[in-house]
Amino acid sequence: VNQHVVIEEKRDSIGVKRLSDARDEYTQIKPYAGMPKEVLVLYSSKARYRVPREILFWLTVCCTLALVAVTIAVIALSPKCLSWWQASPVYQIYPRSFKDSDGDGVGDLKGIREKLDHFEYLNIKSIWISPFYRSPMKDFGYDVEDFRDIDPLFGTMKDFEDLLAAMHSKGLKLIMDFIPNHTSDLHRWFNLSRTRDPHYEDYYVWTDCKPDGPKPNNWVSIFGNSSWTYDEVRGQCYLHQFLKEQPDLNFRNPDVIKEMIDIIHFWLEKGVDGFRMDAVKHMLEAPHMRDEPQVDPNKPPELVTTEWDLHSDYTTSQVGLHDILREFRAQMDIYSQEPGRYRFMVTESYDYEEVYKTMMYYGSRLEKEGDFPFNFYLLDLPHNTSGVWAKHLVHLWMGNMPKGKWPNWVVGNHDRTRISSSAGRLYVRAINMLLLTLPGTATTYYGEEIGMENINVTANPQRSPLQWNADTNAGFNEKTNLTWLPLHPDYETVNVEAQMKDDGSVLAQYRFLNTLRQSELPLNRGWFCYVHADANVFSYIRELDGLKRAFLIVVNFGKESAVTDLSSVRELPDELKVLMSTTIANDGKVFPKSRIQTEVGEGLVIQYSTNTRFNPNHPEECYISEKACYLETIDILYKC
Ligand code: NOJ
Repeated sequence: VNQHVVIEEKRDSIGVKRLSDARDEYTQIKPYAGMPKEVLVLYSSKARYRVPREILFWLTVCCTLALVAVTIAVIALSPKCLSWWQASPVYQIYPRSFKDSDGDGVGDLKGIREKLDHFEYLNIKSIWISPFYRSPMKDFGYDVEDFRDIDPLFGTMKDFEDLLAAMHSKGLKLIMDFIPNHTSDLHRWFNLSRTRDPHYEDYYVWTDCKPDGPKPNNWVSIFGNSSWTYDEVRGQCYLHQFLKEQPDLNFRNPDVIKEMIDIIHFWLEKGVDGFRMDAVKHMLEAPHMRDEPQVDPNKPPELVTTEWDLHSDYTTSQVGLHDILREFRAQMDIYSQEPGRYRFMVTESYDYEEVYKTMMYYGSRLEKEGDFPFNFYLLDLPHNTSGVWAKHLVHLWMGNMPKGKWPNWVVGNHDRTRISSSAGRLYVRAINMLLLTLPGTATTYYGEEIGMENINVTANPQRSPLQWNADTNAGFNEKTNLTWLPLHPDYETVNVEAQMKDDGSVLAQYRFLNTLRQSELPLNRGWFCYVHADANVFSYIRELDGLKRAFLIVVNFGKESAVTDLSSVRELPDELKVLMSTTIANDGKVFPKSRIQTEVGEGLVIQYSTNTRFNPNHPEECYISEKACYLETIDILYKC
């Protein structure tokens, strides 16, 4: 046993010796790349290798956690980016009048494609094109014969697809008109309905009446006179809230809703970016079909012939309407999932007297509807050109819009006298300035960017061809001498080409303001605060919390030149320098804040620097859609 123990001890001591020999051996060489495991293990446990390694390890863990935390914080704290329909004005093309590529006197889709550079020049991304569906054109395309076809007057489906592809490759979005309330009387559905095809029998609103007897009730069409017409084929009356050639669809029939949804899908599949939904408040009528109350109860019923004679209680804004529109919106959302592919929906849904009814088209917090209903209140600017009136009209929207929604402004369209004619040329630049410096999306009817005026004809004076240059037919078409409406005689001076060469032109100012708006946070998403309004001047501030740079806008909508005293506005610096005036000679002028001068129709954009924001001291005067603050040190926006 003893011998065995001795042998074991010897063996151990040899082992220890070997190990310590090896250690000595290894400590004599420095660590090197490709060293054997034994050397590596030996060195890796030494403090001067282990400690830095552990520090690095924990540093990596901490950095990763910090990065994850920062990413979550950035996502949680970032305000939503503006979507394309918020970032750019919406430009309305009236396709008959924009550009005629084939010389038949009527504008067309190929013509629009030829002129896409115009939008790059103006920095406009969203284009709404009025209807180009197949149509007998009784109401210039708002009477649709086939919702899935292009009218030959405007081109072919291939022309449409080429146009859409060309627009998308330039980063432009295409908004189509969508006309749910009615079809043309030449539509296949109407034919099948009047012949009582079982499936289509209830596609329209029919009721009994006699060929020469009294109308079913006192309802009147928007275009005047009874909205009922007797149809000999079916032996009943059908409803038309517009022309008699535009029978109203029956949205109480679920098949009609389904048809319309299929049509929405059809165009969204093609890649269309949005819809302007026409005349939506007329989509449903009260099923009881009672007479509507007269505005003047003493008026003899036979003289009740216009929409102004009746309270349209049973023919507009009926219960159930918003459910249908919300369903349309939901369908559009299905196609809005990919980044950058949001499909936009704007409703034409003006309610003259009851602004809150208009606001319902914004939807609610829980259910989405249109991105906005068109705001037509500024169309009334010419009724009383004054600063107080301008503020009143702006406030109709800002004071009634649901919290968090996005405003919009319209000063012209194909149905209304051009603002340059109704308000007067003098105010055109100021109105464009108002449009582009108010919060929200501006809508520009083609030609407003150069200050086009109405032509002197009884019908459609606001739809004359766009004035591109001083050549024959103003460059609208080159091949013939024919235009579907006469040109405005001022086209030799008022045209795109001439105004591109002139820094002080309406066009140059439009372009400058639009570009400024898109590059300046206070203008595109900041606070909007009323500062002053009197018989001449309307003035407001655009500012963003955390950003020193802010803008004061002073516009003279009155009938006299004005000197505005803003010395009581403590938040403004004493001296104010004009960044841009609609009178180019006044660019760069410096005014004391107690004496800001403007001529009639002159607008000023004043840029100033401040550490004191206006909105915290005047919350009642200020609006913002989604609050955001700017952090100057790292140049970011955050929710605040
Ligand atoms: C409104 C359109 O803007 C107008 O031009 C048309 O006549 C009616 N809706 C009917 O569709």
